[in-house]
Amino acid sequence: MKIAHYSDIHMTVPPWRGGVAGLVGKRSVGALNYYVGGRRRHFARVEHRILRLLEDVDAQAVDHAICTGDVTQMSRPEEFERCAQIFGTRLHDPSRLTVLPGNHDRYTPTAQHERRFERHFGDVAPDAYPFAKRVGDVVIVALDVARAAGLLDSSGYAGPEQLERLRALLTAQSPDTFVILAMHYGLFRKHGEPDRKRHGIRDYEAIVDVIADPKTHVHAIIHGHMHDDYRIDVHGVPEICSGSATDVFRPCGYNVYTVDPATKSIDVDRRVWDAEQDRYVAGEFQRAVE
Ligand SMILES: [Fe+2]
Repeated sequence: MKIAHYSDIHMTVPPWRGGVAGLVGKRSVGALNYYVGGRRRHFARVEHRILRLLEDVDAQAVDHAICTGDVTQMSRPEEFERCAQIFGTRLHDPSRLTVLPGNHDRYTPTAQHERRFERHFGDVAPDAYPFAKRVGDVVIVALDVARAAGLLDSSGYAGPEQLERLRALLTAQSPDTFVILAMHYGLFRKHGEPDRKRHGIRDYEAIVDVIADPKTHVHAIIHGHMHDDYRIDVHGVPEICSGSATDVFRPCGYNVYTVDPATKSIDVDRRVWDAEQDRYVAGEFQRAVE
């Protein structure tokens, strides 16, 4: 079984194009990040890389592709529309693609309330969480931890209800399957340390508790949110971050997993952006981890 995993593609439309009137609240922080914080350079010509990325994923002939969120920068309608255009007909084939929302896709309470992410990506996104999708002998279980948070807050939260159902869902999985837990946020950062309070999952310890429960079946945890790629171990389960697929200030790229449900093994191949060749090419996983 081969699964492609990419994240944090951040389709960006320059903030001024929506007019100055829209730059209030959290959007003003986003605009500042874009012009002063350097996001403009990290995601310059990002549309082109998203197009090349999707072409390259198609060429890998994988059984399924998962995008773990942050398809936009500020959840603006223009960003969702343009991103959905680039995905094209792929957005209507849930047997081949799953897309989860990230915090940047629920950047403001209005974006979350208007369900902008779901309106464009709803055909390939879960409509309730925790969610389980079977692809051959692999089961993808998704948690929704993204939410519109405060002005300088990008933390996530799973909540007791979702966690209780997650525990039941993971306990019910057949030992014959390979279970991948997918979410936007990570449990730990690249050296195994907890994330910052305003950037990580507030109740990450409760998720770790579910994974450590001997009755639950989880064989890999995959996510984005952090823009570097890495792999660490959480109670014997690999936690794998794909990093950003399009942030050119990193060795950006995506992962292709080869999964063996019989042995419960997962191998990672990396495809990285090569600006000179103008395409994604075979690269080295964890190049970003010092
Ligand atoms: Fe994120």
